[in-house]
Amino acid sequence: MPSRRKFLRHASTAALTLAAIPSVLSWALRSGMASGRDASEAQTDIPLRGADGLIVRSYRYTDLETPVEDFNTWLTPVPRFFVRNHMHEPAPGAAQTWQLTIGGEVEKPITLNLNELSKLKTYSVVNTLECAGNGRSLHRPRVAGVQWGKGAVGTARFSGPRLADVLDRAGVKPTGRFVMFRGGDIVPGTVPPFIRSVPIEKALDGDTLIATHMNGSPLTLSHGFPARTLVPGWIGAASCKWLTEIKVLDKEFVGNFMSPAYRYPNQPVNPGDAVKPEDTHPLTALTVKSVIAAPTDGKIIPAGRVAIQGAAWAGEADITRVEVSTDNGNTWADAVLGHDRARYAWRLWKFDWKAAKPGDYTVLSRATDTQGRTQPAAAAWNPSGYLYNAMDQVKIHVS
Ligand code: MTE
Repeated sequence: MPSRRKFLRHASTAALTLAAIPSVLSWALRSGMASGRDASEAQTDIPLRGADGLIVRSYRYTDLETPVEDFNTWLTPVPRFFVRNHMHEPAPGAAQTWQLTIGGEVEKPITLNLNELSKLKTYSVVNTLECAGNGRSLHRPRVAGVQWGKGAVGTARFSGPRLADVLDRAGVKPTGRFVMFRGGDIVPGTVPPFIRSVPIEKALDGDTLIATHMNGSPLTLSHGFPARTLVPGWIGAASCKWLTEIKVLDKEFVGNFMSPAYRYPNQPVNPGDAVKPEDTHPLTALTVKSVIAAPTDGKIIPAGRVAIQGAAWAGEADITRVEVSTDNGNTWADAVLGHDRARYAWRLWKFDWKAAKPGDYTVLSRATDTQGRTQPAAAAWNPSGYLYNAMDQVKIHVS
């Protein structure tokens, strides 16, 4: 019979091993150890489905992607909404003691608890939230970082007080030019905290919120409970989850999540080239983009009527047109845009195609917006793989 001590030793070793599996697997995948190929390839090749059918892009910190076939409702249900965490989520209990401090270049620094925050007038903004790295796995040459496919994007109704109303209470001094947000993530080791700033004009915009609700329910922990900023039309990183501090600054915040992260080259870059940090700027608004939700890539469908459908968005601009090609880009026809619309929200679109002849088809979609931007045939390559927006494509077989 094994001694009790020996049993405990084995049990704790087993527990440690189990606990270590996700981070070791993630590390192995990130570093390319698992396959011997480059890091980016290793992760994309294993589209594991987690709880709720979301695609697991990282275990170490939770990074979950929405399958494209879900983009058939104007509002994305919260359990199907992608999650992007740079670090560990705060403990759920932290909300009881949660406080939000507002300071810096203000007349009267203030602190609000959740009860006080919930008494402020509430506004709602329907916003398409997209991670700047969405589509990174599609860049060629490949780029390091979380290997998102097409689904690090979703649309939700975010509600909460206006950031401007809270700043007004504190009284922004004329020296205030940027507003910094700090997230309450659990920061491992020497990793810098999640802090980013936005220019004062965007902070004071009536659509910029301190969101406490998503699709009518309190935020879930993964989406920033109890409060996050909602900076509509901008890259997801601008919308700071688990908000604990707002600080008005006289200059842009300097820190890891402003630089080197989430910056874009000032000039077009040759694929594979390095870019000097001084030749980059912080990312702000999203670009024009569409994705095909159905039919999905590789699908075999019987000849006849085929509903080609998807979603299109353009950050702070509006979608004016979505075109579809069923012959690999030789000819294009307009899709019909859905009725649901809001300033920063995607439009669903649909194209009824009569697939008369059996064969292989490449179906493409491309969106155009009110700024005159049209999705390009190839996305602009950049070293961090941000803002991938090439026209979307699926290959299908009509039988
Ligand atoms: N806020 C904090 N505090 N920590 C984070 O890791 N990730 C950002 C942003 N806010 C992040 C954060 C990024 S990169 C994105 S794309 C969005 O949150 C994702 O929001 P979601 O997880 O609610 O979809």
